[in-house]
Amino acid sequence: TDQNSGLRKVVLKSPEGTTAEVFVHGAHVTSWKTTTGEEVLFVSKQAVYKPPKAIRGGIPVCFPQFGGFGPLSQHGFARNSEFAVTDSAPESVTLSLTPNEEQLKLFPHPFALTVQVQVGNDILEQTLTATNTGSEAFELTAALHTYFGISSIDKARVDGLQGVDYLGSLADKRRLTENGAYVRFSGEVDRIYLATPSRLEVVDEARGRAVVVEKEGFPDAVVWNPWVEKAAGMGDFGDDEYKEMVCLEPAVAGSGPVTLQPGASWSAKQKLSLREL
Ligand code: BG6
Repeated sequence: TDQNSGLRKVVLKSPEGTTAEVFVHGAHVTSWKTTTGEEVLFVSKQAVYKPPKAIRGGIPVCFPQFGGFGPLSQHGFARNSEFAVTDSAPESVTLSLTPNEEQLKLFPHPFALTVQVQVGNDILEQTLTATNTGSEAFELTAALHTYFGISSIDKARVDGLQGVDYLGSLADKRRLTENGAYVRFSGEVDRIYLATPSRLEVVDEARGRAVVVEKEGFPDAVVWNPWVEKAAGMGDFGDDEYKEMVCLEPAVAGSGPVTLQPGASWSAKQKLSLREL
């Protein structure tokens, strides 16, 4: 049990001392610490730990819908749902979700979702697996909405997206091509990069370190920083916290959806590791 919120959480530890914390509510990773004890993820100081609200930060699981790509409310309901712990070991945990009656009214497609989280030597791996347990095909979009902590937004960048097309989610929704070698931040950024390379990096130049994101089964990657105005408008996010975080989210979004036939499964994962600059 988490002492501050009273919510159930699972603490993972690798033999080398890498740790992670996973809240059962939302199968939500809220902490990933290196073997030297350094936190890699960002969680807002104003995060609200009151289900069904999703925790602001860490890695919310967006499923069965990313953003507004479908009939559900923003980012689907997995992040607002209580999961069940179905398997657990010192280094890994598997959490499962099947939609309840209320959710099936909004999304009439029975499924079983599992989220597996595993730590290794300065590694965090997270795998989503969804099975269509109904009798009709359905479509899904999804994301691992990862909030990375950075020392300063003006010293942070995302690498690996040069030449990749993206859709803007702000006023300008045109399809554009990323020209820069890096994505840097000097205003709100909310973009869906389409069919990206499988390896991307969040580089913290001030700290001299990059987090390497390797993804499989997620064609797209969302890059998000709310900047000043949006930060001010979010009740569970500090006005200045946009300086300390960058979201890089492996996703099935603009290139999606995935169609899941009855009985079929879909699986996608991300592996996070560290690289010294
Ligand atoms: C991002 C979206 O993935 O999530 C943004 O691209 C959105 O548009 C952000 O603002 C946060 O969403 P939420 O629902 O957690 O406030």
